[in-house]
Amino acid sequence: MYGMVNSAIKNLILENFGQETWEKIKEDSGVEDDIFISMKANPDKPTYDMAISATKVLEMELGPLLEAVGEYWILYTAREGYKEMLDMFGKNMKEFLQNLNHLHSRVHSVMPDLNPPMFECQIEDDGTILLHYFTERPHLAPMVIGILRGLSKRFDEPAVIEQIAHKAEGEDHDIFKVNVN
Ligand code: HEM
Repeated sequence: MYGMVNSAIKNLILENFGQETWEKIKEDSGVEDDIFISMKANPDKPTYDMAISATKVLEMELGPLLEAVGEYWILYTAREGYKEMLDMFGKNMKEFLQNLNHLHSRVHSVMPDLNPPMFECQIEDDGTILLHYFTERPHLAPMVIGILRGLSKRFDEPAVIEQIAHKAEGEDHDIFKVNVN
């Protein structure tokens, strides 16, 4: 995973739990400093190791931790130079979610080793959004829920977000239902 993702996890922990807690997580996971270089592509293992160590040190389940990472991701990308990109790909939740693949394509142009997820955005007759999430990586569905929450805050559009299909339970892929009020 690109260093930027690892840095987001690190900063989330530093901002919410402080330096001492971060040092414990870093030591437990055994990750090296170079995985935090934003534009460097890394294997996924250290990212997962760090998340697992964080669940141990913070005594937190992986799901809620990844949801927090997802919600933080929207704030973090905006402040790390991607605010214009976030602005460019939609002026509301619906428009933005329809553009997720375009957004990652744009990111790919600056991060050539990016292996981004793929999304399909299905709009129902009643306006409900069904977001289909495809990835080679396991366990990250809660991160999508967190990102959707972050977007709902960013666009100031209160939304009910629910996962209605779970790859982890044997379904083909994860699906999220988003009802924007
Ligand atoms: C400007 C905003 C964004 C930037 C710069 C960005 C960039 C990235 C980067 C660098 C990765 C790591 C992939 C890799 O290293 O191979 C990633 C992964 C991911 N992105 Fe984005 N992203 C952005 C917005 C979003 C949004 C709005 C979503 C909405 C759901 C999203 C969903 C994900 C997910 C779920 C992953 C985890 C990897 C996976 O599922 O395989 N991203 N993104």
